[in-house]
Amino acid sequence: MSTWTTDEMGPTLYQPVEDLETPALLVDIDAMTSNIEAYVAFADEHDVSLRSHVKTHKNAELAALEDEMTDGGGICCQTLGEVETMARNGIDDIYLSYQVIGDRKLDRFCWLSQKVDKLATTVDSVATIEMLQDAASDHETTINVILEIDLGLHRTGVSPDSEAVALAKRVDEAADLEFDGILAYEAQVKSKAETEAEYDELCWEAMELARGVVEDIEVAGVPVDEVKVGGTATSRYSGKHPVVTEINPGMYPFNDVGELKRRPWEVSKDDCAATVVTTVVSVPEEDRLVVDGGSKTFSLDTPEMPVPKNRDDIEYVNASEEHGWIDTSDAEESFAVGDRLEFIVPHVCTTINLHDLIIGVRADRVEELWEVQARGKVR
Ligand SMILES: Cc1ncc(COP(=O)(O)O)c(C=O)c1O
Repeated sequence: MSTWTTDEMGPTLYQPVEDLETPALLVDIDAMTSNIEAYVAFADEHDVSLRSHVKTHKNAELAALEDEMTDGGGICCQTLGEVETMARNGIDDIYLSYQVIGDRKLDRFCWLSQKVDKLATTVDSVATIEMLQDAASDHETTINVILEIDLGLHRTGVSPDSEAVALAKRVDEAADLEFDGILAYEAQVKSKAETEAEYDELCWEAMELARGVVEDIEVAGVPVDEVKVGGTATSRYSGKHPVVTEINPGMYPFNDVGELKRRPWEVSKDDCAATVVTTVVSVPEEDRLVVDGGSKTFSLDTPEMPVPKNRDDIEYVNASEEHGWIDTSDAEESFAVGDRLEFIVPHVCTTINLHDLIIGVRADRVEELWEVQARGKVR
């Protein structure tokens, strides 16, 4: 009915960044590229595949770029909706690191598995295996299956003991399922390790557990071709262990405040490619100003706050939905309404999920516009 759509007023290619309306989610293309290259170099050096987790950005063009830069490593998704978005846009090697439960979803999964070259999913219970087998049989297809092992995160996954062997055998014996290997996501290390040496030690310990599981399953007569591990923080530690065949980081092209604080020896502000540029909307007091980015612009689902990208003398201290409180008591200059301030995002996955568009920038100009296509696709 109305022609007042905001689409025509959105950012355009080659527009100077300083002209963008704020708040705007930016990605520094050069920093993103070099972050991807660093993980690719690690994967090459340690002879592991790099399958990027696209839950972070939910955009098929970025997924294709990651797939290309990782030499066809494929992608991971966390929801079936993400799988559909990626498949529809031509990505043909996808691993769904999540359980598919319910008849409707099983139908969608089987349909998709016939559309793409390779699609695998995750199980961690007899119930999931039986549902998958029934669906595969009904759809006259074969489903590739990964068994999730709980190495200490205590989220999903089976304990690395006899239960793992029993489930692997069950998949192997199912007429229409193909057992590909295990998922051993070791994110618990992030809450325990504080130094590089501790990351090394705790990831190695976790991978030794994974190695034990692989040996037990193989002794039972089931080959384990794939051992998938790692997020952004742990991939480059766990990936050194010979049992690992594939790392699955998601945030690595962008980084965020969480990664910056977690691994300061590895991640600098320059490596934080995802930022939000904001505008000062009010300077109510000499030592305090307010920007137009609050909790609907920066996801605050972790304890971190946004961190200024290019300066250390101001601090983002509090947020309401559309307002960000900035403490300027240590700043030498004074600020005026209309000034612009850029912040590294606290948690990149959930922050991107708040935005419609990721604006790729290079040399202070808009060079790419990536829609967050699978935003809202939680089913
Ligand atoms: C199973 C699995 N693999 C990989 C990742 C990617 O980890 P990160 O976001 O730390 O890069 C996630 C993230 O939640 C995950 O759940």
